[in-house]
Amino acid sequence: MIKPITLGNKSFPVNIIQGPLAGISCAPFRRLTWKYSQPAFSATEMISCKTLIHQPVSLQKRFVHKASDEGPVAFQLASNDPIELAEGVKRVTDYGADLIDLNCGCPVKKIRSKGSGSLLLTQPVKLYKLICAMRESTHLPISIKIRVDGGSNEKHNAEIVKVVNESGLDFLIVHGRHWTEHYETSCRYDEIQFFADQLKIPVIGNGDVSCVNSLRKMLATGCQGVMIGRAGVGQPWLISQLITEMKNEIFTQPSIQEIGHMFIEHVEQLAALLINEKFAILQARKFAKYYAKKLDNRSEFCEVINQSTSLLALKIATYHYFCY
Ligand SMILES: Cc1cc2nc3c(=O)[nH]c(=O)nc-3n(C[C@H](O)[C@H](O)[C@H](O)COP(=O)(O)O)c2cc1C
Repeated sequence: MIKPITLGNKSFPVNIIQGPLAGISCAPFRRLTWKYSQPAFSATEMISCKTLIHQPVSLQKRFVHKASDEGPVAFQLASNDPIELAEGVKRVTDYGADLIDLNCGCPVKKIRSKGSGSLLLTQPVKLYKLICAMRESTHLPISIKIRVDGGSNEKHNAEIVKVVNESGLDFLIVHGRHWTEHYETSCRYDEIQFFADQLKIPVIGNGDVSCVNSLRKMLATGCQGVMIGRAGVGQPWLISQLITEMKNEIFTQPSIQEIGHMFIEHVEQLAALLINEKFAILQARKFAKYYAKKLDNRSEFCEVINQSTSLLALKIATYHYFCY
């Protein structure tokens, strides 16, 4: 059911969230999601606390900028050191975070080899200390985003439950896959249900939600809220659509022209944020295909975008293909 949700000391009118996506979830993407959907909040992509503490602020802009016209934002941090994490938490609290999350699910080798991401799930004592460090450093709601045991001999889920129940965590986000699993493996709804049953705090379920049916399936785990990941890319209206359809009301899909306009808005905002047209165009090449899902000549459009070397050329191509 779509309903209000309270996470720590903050309440939100709906229980649907736009999750973190590295390379995508900076302010322009979140701003569009807010404009067309108004989720409870959107997450930043993962930000390393080392970057936050040691890099010049000018280089961090893409990660830490919060737009004046976007909704609540959860800053997602990566760290394996309580002192460093405490400092990172203080900094993003000052930058205007509304909630703060610790990444405990990233499967990438580079992150795990630094002792962060999903590796933390095998270190309950360290994880407990990290959560305590977050709790002592901010008044904001705090969460961790985890992956699950994959039915192997590992018993980390039970250990995580113990850590979470004993720490001051406000809520838990569970992506229902093991860290070794790719997206071809279906989300493990039973593991999400395990956490929802065992925890005293709200659980947010995450994995494979893209329509009302998959949303209902996720909510049936007993989770209090749902995080959308990939499906939100190129469809900033999706969460609004889900909320409307869950009320058995008809949602009016944006026209092709409107979608073309959203794509341009996204790229223009990126160029303004990065003060770098070239980098914005490189990024746009990655997400053009998501906006173009409904175009008959999708691959031709993506090819033209791949060839575009200026914002003007990209706009002209979009006007042409989206008839806008
Ligand atoms: C391109 C990409 C980047 C991602 N970056 C992050 C990230 O920075 N932090 C994080 O916790 N999860 C990240 N994820 C995982 C998603 O937040 C989400 O947990 C996962 O995609 C499952 O949800 P979905 O099936 O709704 O996409 C990323 C996923 C993708 C595909």
